[in-house]
This record gives sequence, C-alpha cells and structure tokens, in this order.
Amino acid sequence: MSPSFRSLRDFLEVTDAVADPPPSSGDFEKEVEASSGKEVETADYLIDLQQKEERTTPIDGQLSETLEKESDEASEKSSDFSAFQEFKSAWNSLPSADKDGVSECFKEASSGSLATDKVKSIHNGLVSLESREGENPNITIEKCQGSVGKGESYKSQEENESTEKTEKLKKMVRVQSYEKIADNASVAHISLKSYASVGTSFENFELNGIYSAIKSNNTENTAMMEEAWETLQKSYVYYKGRPVGTLAAMDPTAEALNYNQVFVRDFVPSGLACLMRPANAGGDPEIVKNFLLKTLHLQGWEKRIDNFTLGEGVMPASFKVLYDSHRQKETLVADFGGSAIGRVAPVDSGFWWIILLRSYTKCTHDYTLSEMPEVQRGMKLILNLCLSDGFDTFPTLLCADGCSMIDRRMGIYGYPIEIQALFYFALRCSRQMLKPERDGKELIERIDKRITALTYHIRNYYWLDFTQLNNIYRYKTEEYSHTAVNKFNVIPESIPDWVFEFMPLRGGYLIGNVSPARMDFRWFLVGNCIAILSSLVTPAQETAIMDLIEERWEDLIGEMPLKIVYPALEGHDWRTVTGFDPKNTRWSYHNGGTWPACIKTGRPQIAKRAIELMEQRLSKDGWPEYYDGKAGRYVGKQARKYQTWSISGYLVAKLMIENPANLLIISLEEDKRISKSKLTRSISF
Ligand code: GLC
Repeated sequence: MSPSFRSLRDFLEVTDAVADPPPSSGDFEKEVEASSGKEVETADYLIDLQQKEERTTPIDGQLSETLEKESDEASEKSSDFSAFQEFKSAWNSLPSADKDGVSECFKEASSGSLATDKVKSIHNGLVSLESREGENPNITIEKCQGSVGKGESYKSQEENESTEKTEKLKKMVRVQSYEKIADNASVAHISLKSYASVGTSFENFELNGIYSAIKSNNTENTAMMEEAWETLQKSYVYYKGRPVGTLAAMDPTAEALNYNQVFVRDFVPSGLACLMRPANAGGDPEIVKNFLLKTLHLQGWEKRIDNFTLGEGVMPASFKVLYDSHRQKETLVADFGGSAIGRVAPVDSGFWWIILLRSYTKCTHDYTLSEMPEVQRGMKLILNLCLSDGFDTFPTLLCADGCSMIDRRMGIYGYPIEIQALFYFALRCSRQMLKPERDGKELIERIDKRITALTYHIRNYYWLDFTQLNNIYRYKTEEYSHTAVNKFNVIPESIPDWVFEFMPLRGGYLIGNVSPARMDFRWFLVGNCIAILSSLVTPAQETAIMDLIEERWEDLIGEMPLKIVYPALEGHDWRTVTGFDPKNTRWSYHNGGTWPACIKTGRPQIAKRAIELMEQRLSKDGWPEYYDGKAGRYVGKQARKYQTWSISGYLVAKLMIENPANLLIISLEEDKRISKSKLTRSISF
C-alpha cells in the first residue's frame, strides 16, 4: 500500500470507522463494502479513490469531455468554468501595472468605446469581460493597447510574457449585454430609462466603479488584511494532521460554549477566502476539500435525538475534534441539533455544503471531488430531504424557528426567505454537478420543476415594493376560487405601520415569510443577499434591492454593515415572538443586530463604503461577532471577539473588490429558461 493510499484511506476512514460513533447503514464506507461484499473489490474501489485523489488539477480533457456530454448545462459549465479559471489565473499572474492597464480597458469599455457591444447580463459588477470575436475585437484590443502600451518601453522577457498574459486577459474581456433587464422590463411594460438605478448611466456607473475600486484597494489596509489572514489561519482545526475547518470564534475571554466547533455555515466564508486567495499568496483549496469530505462522512452517521432518528441526508450544524487520551486517538463529535441551544435543526447546513462544493469545483476545476460516487450520493440525500412529496401547496420549504443562521426563536418559522433562497441556490448548484446516471436523471427533472415553481413563487409572492404594498393595502379578503387576487387571504390590517414609512418609492425587497394570512414584512439580510447571489431575483429586482439599501442606508447599514433584520422586535412583540429572549433584545444579536457582512452588491462604490465602515472598527474592536444598537454603534453585548466569519467575511469582501472575477466563485448567472417567463410586476423596474 503506498503511503498516499494509506493516508487517504486513513483520512476518509474508509475501512476503519472505530474512532467515530457507529456509522449508520448510510455511511459511504460501509456502503462500499456492502455493495462489493468482497474485500478485494473494496480494495479496488479504494485504489480507484486514490487514483481520483491523485488526478491532477485541472482535470484532463477526457474527463471534461465526459462532463460536457453528461449535462445539458454543458455549455454553461465548460465556458463558465474554464473561462473563469483562465481569467482568474491570468489576472493573478499579472503585475499590478498591467492590472491597471486592463482596468483602463474596463474603463474604456464602460465609457462607450465598446458601445456597439451589447451588455448581456448585469451579473452585478461582474468583470468577466471579453471582446466578442467576430463582433468588434479590434475596438477592444486597440483601445486596450493604448492603456497597456506603457508596457512597451519594458523589454525584459518577463515583461513580454506578462504583456502576452494581458493580451490573453483582454481577449477574455466580455462586455455582456443588459438584454435580460430589457426582457424583464418589457415584460413589465415599463420603460427602464426613467429610473436612475437602471437607467442609461448604469453601464458606466458599474464599470467605472469597479475600475476605481480595483485601483484604490490594491494598496489599502494591507496590515489589516495580514492580521485577518493570520487570525484565520490560527482558527484552523486539524484532524489526522490535515486542516478540516475553522473554529467559530477564538475569544479567550468568553465561555466557549459551542464556539469552539467548526460550524458548517460559518466555514463557508472561510472556505471562500481560502479559494479566492491566489495560490502564490497562500490560497488553500485543500482545507475546503477536506472540510467537504469530513462533513460528508459525518452525514453518514446515525443521527438520533432522544428516541427520534433524523433523516439520512441531514448535515451537521457543527463538529469538533476531540483527543481521546485513553485510546490515543482523535475523534470527531458532531452536533445535528441534538446539543444545540434550543435543539434547533440546521436546515441550512446541507444547502451550504452543496453551494461550497460547487464553489470548490468552479475555482479549482477539480471535478473529481464532485464526481465521486459518495459525494454524488451525499448531494442526493440532501435533495431527497427537500424534494419528497408531501401535503405542500407551495414549492417553498416548511421550517421550524431557528433552523438557519438565526438559530434562536425569532418568528421565522414557516417559509423563511433565508432557507428558500438557500434552497434555490443549492438546487441550481446541484443541477450543475449531478450526474444523470441511474436515478440521477429523474432527480434532475424534479430539480428543474422545483426551480421553476420556486422562482415563480418567490418572485411574485415575496416581492414587496411601493406598488405592491399599495396593492396589498387595498386587498379584498375572503376571496374564494382560483381567481382570487389576495391568494393567501392577508388581512390588510395586519400590515405593520413601520412598513408604510420604510418603503421608498424607489426600491423593493423580498419579505421575510409568506404563508396563509401571514406575511412577515421584515427585511432579512441573508435571504435577500442569497437571492441576489443566486439570481433567484430578476436583475431588475436585484437593482431594486440595492436601491432600497441606498435609500434606507441609515436603517439598514448605519455605522456598521449590515443589519440582519429590520426592524427589531420590541415590547409585546419581543415578548410573544422571541419568548422573552434576553440575548435577542431589540437591536441586538439576531433581533436587529448588525453583522459584519460581505455581499455581492453590483455597486462597488456601495461595497467600498461598507468596507470602509468595517475597516474603521472591526480590527480595533477585536473582530466582534456582531454590533448592537439602531446604528450598529456598540460592540454586541454578548458578542464573541475574534469571530472567524467576521474575519473571513471581511477578507472575502476585499478579495472580491480586488479581483471582481472572484465573485464568480460563488455567484450564479440568471437561469436562462426562467428569465423568459413573465415574473415581475412592479413599477420600480
Ligand atoms: C450563533 C449564530 C449562528 C452561528 C454560530 C456560530 O449561534 O447565530 O448563526 O453559526 O453562532 O458562530
């Protein structure tokens, strides 16, 4: 047995799961043995695993060819993945002078030199620009030559190589068209031009913003970045010598509770930071791969709370590595909600796992991981939990309170937007990675149907803007039959007073929850951000959400970005909805507290402004978990210091501003099949 085989086997615990609690029959190692029934076949399988492990990255042409055949999203996958990969590595290997040159190119593209190019997608400040060969390549190349021309005075071989790289990069510059916005606008029968945020200046605004953001952020706050990287590295958790995740927080002054564990949701920004960091600067995709494999292994455990066994696909909320001094072995302890305060089940964990798997694949081009049979199986188990038939009349997922990032009672039970947006995001990601073999094809069909239904439901029934609010305000009630306008029988008197004041003329958002006779009008940050990242909302809705943030900056951002929920529950509402929760008093923690966050804004100047606010305090205050107060001015009463996702969230925000191509590691384009249908109805588009 070769050493690498041994270490891989040890790491995956393929045959020896003694250290862990007894795995369930779903455990993939066991399944491997059961399916073969013979040791020799197991060994073959292990060798196969080893070979897969040893396959180089990027993958070979044959494998990529197979992949392309296997999915009807092949074109999206190959062009998207490889163009991005090329773009990223070309960008990373450029000296900063040349980066400036390319940035100039972007600037010129935005200022009209490339006016003949249609801008195809507003995928928010995405800087995947490419001169369209055959359409107007000359314009781009010539224009760019001017700005990179400075390089001509340098004659060294290195410089020549970098000029070549720049040229390659420029060729990849693609000015995408805004035709999708136009589609939506025409669907809504509204002229875009009258709205500043979607108006004619939009292209210049976007690209110039990105350009200056790229330039100015190259030199800023290096010390804070270094501190953040160092602290992130200190939070690494090792298992059998390999990093498998990051601690939630490392506050020496507070009781650890479960903050000394690796939380699945908390690891996502850490993982993204490690993926986005250029390899030559310490980028570390390995920790992400290890994390994905380790949590997959935990999924295979039998999960029991009291006498009740949880679904096979449930992923843990968190896990930790313990050293068993008796057996002189490291063991893993996972929490599926059974130990969590309030016994809350992490509905979001499985979705985040799928989303991170797709980010890993997209960034590294290493398809071997997502193609492993046990990884495919893990994905299917998660999806089966959500796609099984039941009594539902809605395509949304019914959830208990505390099932996501807001893991305490906060009145989010029902159909919370955060889970619905993550559900959609995970469906779209799985759609790219699932292989249509065996039962895969049928599952893919179910996914497609659910994506369509979910998109329709969310875009229509969760969307609130001035016009829609006015419609609801005038709703008739007690309508029967399919012709009802007020489908959920929402009583207009249930609309809270604050929302009439809060709603600007320009802008809109997805409300917190929709169910029979109940609309939770509160603003929830994570749900809206995930809806933007995953393109669950239309480009026009995306723009409107950003408008809302601009219009209501004081309320939603204040002195520290961003407010997790708006407004806070107070008085009687706080007592009845949170159950007198002392940790969730008004404007604190999950109840209107402010969390250092990173979002795909599509308006770099907003992102910059938000990051600047963070930079003024975050490091000085010891990277707290959250801030309190209406303006987010005070370090949270019970906030942990050195909270890892505050650190990695900051790093991800900086990495995306520095190199906007990084956005593609996490974001999704609009689903082309869905963008054609009529889904919006607001005048704010
Ligand atoms: C808090 C947060 C939760 C997070 C955990 C670890 O419980 O509400 O979202 O995962 O801390 O940081």
